[in-house]
Parts: sequence; structure tokens; C-alpha cells
Amino acid sequence: MKKEQWSSNIGFLLATAGSAVGLGNVWKFPYITGQNGGGAFVLVYLICIAMIGFPLMVCEFALGRATRQGPVGAFRAFTRDRNTPLSVFLSCLLILIGGLLLSFQYWGYGVMMLAAGIILCVWGWKIVGAVVGVVSPGLIASYYCVIGGWTLIYFFKAVMGELNFQDPKVAEELMRPIVTSAPEMMPTQIIAFLVFIGLMTIALFFGVKNGIERSAKILMPMLFLLLLLLVVRGLALPGAMKGVRFFLQPELGNLHIESVLTALGHAFFTLSLAMGISITYGSYMRKDQNIVKSALAVIGLDTMAAMMAGLAIFPALFAMGFESDQGVGLAFMVVPAAFSKIPGGLGWLWNGAFFLALFIAALTSAISIMETLVNYGINEWKIGRRKAVVLSASATLLLGFLSLFSISNWNHLRKLEDVLIRCFGDADSSWMDLIDGFSSNWLLPLGGLFTVLFVGWIWTTRRAMRELRVGAGSALDTNLWILLAGLERDPLYLDTRSRFTFASLFGLFVRWITPALTALVFLYSVGILRF
Ligand code: PHE
Repeated sequence: MKKEQWSSNIGFLLATAGSAVGLGNVWKFPYITGQNGGGAFVLVYLICIAMIGFPLMVCEFALGRATRQGPVGAFRAFTRDRNTPLSVFLSCLLILIGGLLLSFQYWGYGVMMLAAGIILCVWGWKIVGAVVGVVSPGLIASYYCVIGGWTLIYFFKAVMGELNFQDPKVAEELMRPIVTSAPEMMPTQIIAFLVFIGLMTIALFFGVKNGIERSAKILMPMLFLLLLLLVVRGLALPGAMKGVRFFLQPELGNLHIESVLTALGHAFFTLSLAMGISITYGSYMRKDQNIVKSALAVIGLDTMAAMMAGLAIFPALFAMGFESDQGVGLAFMVVPAAFSKIPGGLGWLWNGAFFLALFIAALTSAISIMETLVNYGINEWKIGRRKAVVLSASATLLLGFLSLFSISNWNHLRKLEDVLIRCFGDADSSWMDLIDGFSSNWLLPLGGLFTVLFVGWIWTTRRAMRELRVGAGSALDTNLWILLAGLERDPLYLDTRSRFTFASLFGLFVRWITPALTALVFLYSVGILRF
């Protein structure tokens, strides 16, 4: 079977940025920035992106392109699915931590660590590929599409002028039946969920070039234009500067060690790392594409979208006299109220633009995560694309319904809640929160950790660099000082080989620094590390 490829570099960039720019940028980034010290947090976040996000993204693209396989095949390609000393060492480490936790009577976490260790010991790298390539994307896809459905509901309500709230309290009355799966909202929710999955399925049916790439080429410029419109509208309001200041002025007092870890965790999620997507999208790259530059471009677009979202939201919020520390409810409750209050009677337009942007952001991300599953079907089960799309969509549909029926309470799944409470002392507030928490706190950091370690020590940085040089040329081996100074073509510097190059820095990060930081995020996000 002929492997699919991107038709152009720009198509690849837009599709990958489409994956990266999602609910995480438009909804989550603004509010965690608001809560964690504004500009200071943005700075920390950028540093985290540089130290974890960038190296990991480069590794994933390279793994994908070198093997032309999705995650499952990529991990298999260099280990034949067997254990290696490194995987045995890591499983022993997990078992040890598990035992320690058990002896401190943290039953739930202890058992989970033990189980992770044993599973890794038995299946070796095969299980890493399966988690990164199937389990994480499958779980995330299921609840992400439910939220995608909400954005659709909100968009239609906005355009029909039904979001004309003057007060977030009123907005809450609209939001509650949705997030609690109240019976009267169920039909609407189910329809929205089905439409969302349907749209995604259509795009995927047409394949990499004609489906994913083409939809990204239309949707991504639209998304940036909508954000731009909202930024301009927001900044033009009297009193807007207060919002800008809140969003961007460094408040060192609000910056705690937890903020740093929040930033590290968010870096994973927002760049769609460790969920198989970047390996899959990397496997469609052509050899003449420059992996390092592409990763930089995707990160740039993703960060730009996040900053634009913040600049669209906060000025309007402050100008209309709202509080900004609303956390989760920010996008769905406070923003509609603030936009409705903008004088001129065009509230429906601003809200419509905002929720359309949110919907587009969610759709292109959902497409990418589903493509990971489709790619798995095509590569591992050797089935055709259409069949793979139908199967992945059906699986997502089934799992998604679980989220849909138990969104903000356990009414429909009481037994499971009891088990969780017995094991962990408490339970997240619903099945959806459980899946969200489990994937972002356990699967993503662990998946990322194993991926960099795999590239650094099993595939080896030497071979990874060989892949990166294809399409990037000799720049990666030029002395960074000379490169920064722009003197690489100067005859006096013709011999530019040195030890301080991108290649050596990359190796250093992938082998040591990125894994160490990722391990830190993991221990923090599962609650073992406390400050
Ligand atoms: N990067 C996405 C975001 O910021 C995360 C994501 C991508 C989630 C794809 C699910 C699927 O929202």
C-alpha cells in the first residue's frame, strides 16, 4: 500500500498547528495565565515549551518520519517489541515507587504504579507504543468530542441571540443543564455530539491530502481571522488596558512552584504531544521537509493563538467590569456575558465569532487525534482508510456517550464511583473528569517521558540526528555562536565544526534534561510531589 504524504510544507504546518491550537489555547491558557501571575507565567510557559515541548516535538516528528509508521509501529521498529535494559530498569523503578506508596497506605496510587511497572515489565516497549498510539488518543478523543459538541451548541445559540446575558449568573443557568447532562438538554447534546463526530469523519474520509490538509487550509486562516477580529474589538474598548495589564504584566507574587509545573503540564497538552499525533503527522512528512524548523513554526503558531485568545478575552472582560479569576467557567459563562455587554448591540456577533473560533479549534484538534486511531487501523490491521475511519468513529462514539451521560455527576455510574472512592479516598466529579484527569496526569507525562527516553537511549540521539539532518542540512552542526552571529558563511569561519551545536544541545536535552523535567511533572500531577 502506498503511504500517504503531505502535499506541501504549508499544508503540513497548518494541519499540525490545527492539532495544536485547540480548546487548550482558547479556553485553558487564558485562565491559567490569569490565575498564575500573568506575564511572568507566560515567560515561564515559554521556557517550558523550549525545554520540554520543543525537544519532544522534534523527537516525535523524527520517529514518525524515520519509520513511516504511527506510534505502535515506530516503537516496534527499533526494539521488535522486546524489552531492553532501559525498559526493565524503568519498570523496576515504577514498582519500587508503587511499593513505597503502598507502605504509606496510598492504596489507589500504589496499585496503579505497581500495575504500570508490571505491565511495562511484561510487554516492554510494545505497551508504550500502544498507550501513546491507541489508549491515550482513544480516551481523549471520546471526551474532547463531547466538548466539541458544546462549542457547536453555543455557536448556534450565539448567532440566534440567545447568549445575551447581562450577568454570568444567568449564563450559569444555561451552562448547568449542559454540563450536568440534564434530561431536557440531552437531545440537543446528542445531536451536537453526532454532528461534531460526523464533520470529523467526513474530513478523515478524504485522507491526508484532500481531507486533513485541505480542511486545515480553510479552517486555520479563518480561526486566526476570527481571533484577530475579537482582539481588535476588545482592545478598542475604553478600559481595555486594564485587561491587557492583567494578562501580561508580570506579577511575580502569583508565581509559585506550582505555576511552573502547571506550565510544564500545559506545554504537553497544548502541543498535542505524547498522544501519538505528532508521530503520526510526522510519518506523513517528506524527506525534504525541515523537521526542526517545522517544529518551531508549529510552536510559534500555537503560542500566537494562545496569546490572541487572551487578548480577545481579558480586555473585554475588564472593560465590562467582570472578574477574571473564574477558572473553568471563563469561556462558557463569563465571556458570553462580557461580549453581550459590549455597547452597539452586536453581542451576537462577538459571541458568534468567539464560539465559531472555539469550534474550529476543537474540530481540527479532534481530527488529528482521530487520525492517530485511523492510522493505527491502516498500519496495524491493514484495513482500508474508509473502514478505519468508520471503526474509529464508532469507538469514539461509544466511549463518548459514557462521558455524555455522566458529565458532571455519577448518577448513571454509581458503582464505579464507589470503587474509586474506596481506592483513592475520593473520586473526580464525573466519568469525564476521571478520563480527563487520568489522561492528562498519567498518560501524557508518562508517554512523553518514555518517548524522549526511547529516542535518547534506544533509537539513540546519533540516529535521531541523522534523521533530522535530512531536510535541515548542515546548519544543525554549526557552532551556535557563529550561527547566531550570522557568520556561518564567513570564509574565516569555514571550519565550523565545534562542540556547541544544535545537535549537541539536542542530545543533552533528549537524554537528560527533558526526561528529568517530565518526570517532575508526572510526580507532581499525580499528586506524589507536593510543595
Ligand atoms: N492541543 C490541543 C489543545 O490545545 C489538545 C488536543 C489535541 C486535545 C488533540 C485533543 C486532541 O486543545
